[in-house]
Amino acid sequence: MQPEIRRIIAVDAHRRKTGHCPVLVHSLGTGESFAITPTPDGFVDVSTGIAVRSSGERILLPEPHGSIDIRMNGDVAFDGFDHSCREAFSGRAGGGTSVTIYDGEGVDYFQYAVAADCAGGLITRVDPERSMNQRFAGKRIVITGAGRGLGFAYADRLGSEGASIVIAEIDPALGMEAVDKLTAKGIEAMFVATDVTSETSVADMARIAAKGCDGIHGLVTNAAWANNVGGRLYNEIEPDIWDRMMAVNVKGTWLAVRAVGPLMRDGGSIVTISSDCIYWGAPRLLHYATSKSAIIGMTRSLAREFGDRMIRVNCVAPGLTVGEATKDIPEQRWKDYADKQILKRKQLSDDLDGVVAFLLSEDSRFITGQTLAVDGGFALH
Ligand SMILES: NC(=O)c1ccc[n+]([C@@H]2O[C@H](COP(=O)([O-])OP(=O)(O)OC[C@H]3O[C@@H](n4cnc5c(N)ncnc54)[C@H](O)[C@@H]3O)[C@@H](O)[C@H]2O)c1
Repeated sequence: MQPEIRRIIAVDAHRRKTGHCPVLVHSLGTGESFAITPTPDGFVDVSTGIAVRSSGERILLPEPHGSIDIRMNGDVAFDGFDHSCREAFSGRAGGGTSVTIYDGEGVDYFQYAVAADCAGGLITRVDPERSMNQRFAGKRIVITGAGRGLGFAYADRLGSEGASIVIAEIDPALGMEAVDKLTAKGIEAMFVATDVTSETSVADMARIAAKGCDGIHGLVTNAAWANNVGGRLYNEIEPDIWDRMMAVNVKGTWLAVRAVGPLMRDGGSIVTISSDCIYWGAPRLLHYATSKSAIIGMTRSLAREFGDRMIRVNCVAPGLTVGEATKDIPEQRWKDYADKQILKRKQLSDDLDGVVAFLLSEDSRFITGQTLAVDGGFALH
């Protein structure tokens, strides 16, 4: 059996098993990666251009490849027959990320890892009745770390306004759950497993994100290490913790811009995420505050470098916001924080998502290099 046919079987088995179409698979035997583009009734294997249709217990391929029988047996097993080379095969696709195919005798086996998938096989269309405001219709927006928390809130808001969302998230369970939630609402969304600290992971993500659109419109560099980061004085923070903070929050932001920037449409918009803690000198948070200060300098320099393409780069600095990352913060700290705000109540993700949407929209077309603190007036600067 030809390797590309084996790969197609692996992709189809994963799709049948999970309902999610892979958009990137690795062959563990050769170490090569292959992009897949989902279609309404199947997918296209990008490197060969073979358009695959799935119908009942058959995989239909264009001539000269013919058809392949495939049957899912129980929870993980499948078997089938490739009519063009007259070879039987069997395999296992458990719904995780790995698919194994055995040849007819069960002697040779071939393994594939699904690096990224797309929920539902294809991106559903936005119901135009759902929102009066579809200002991002036809625009693809990448949001790093959007599996939960504020990143997910941005995805939900931008998707509700018509954007096609790419969730670039390190945690596959969060990423897939986020896509399921968005697609259930009719939002076009895909998850791409991404570690923003890794140059290759971010480059793969950008390549996948740019497929099927004429340039990425927006990027929100939201991913950060923001959870349980406080509590230590300057001389209690370990150097490896410091390095990890800089790798995720600073290098991760830069790598995301570095990979997505060249694939953006001229006139697009980038929103970076800092924190209002940089303004008021938050104690016991030195590494985090330092990383978030760097984002402001980075935003200003990037704004100058992207300006000739009319791509704007702005930063949002949120205040303490209710969400998963802040759920263990004691009530007294919320109260102390609210006491010092001009607008005295807890900050919610709804207070932020419209600001991010504004900075990605045409309404902010002459704003670049700026940082907007969104914190109820806690920090004035
Ligand atoms: N929540 C707040 O009060 C608050 C305040 C100020 C600034 N912020 C900033 O807002 C952003 C989101 O914060 P949040 O509260 O939603 O945090 P969160 O911890 O809930 O979400 C962060 C997300 O980033 C993902 N992530 C972590 N490391 C990653 C990596 N290497 N590659 C890809 N994804 C990765 C996580 O899996 C998670 O889904 C962060 O930049 C944070 O610094 C948050």
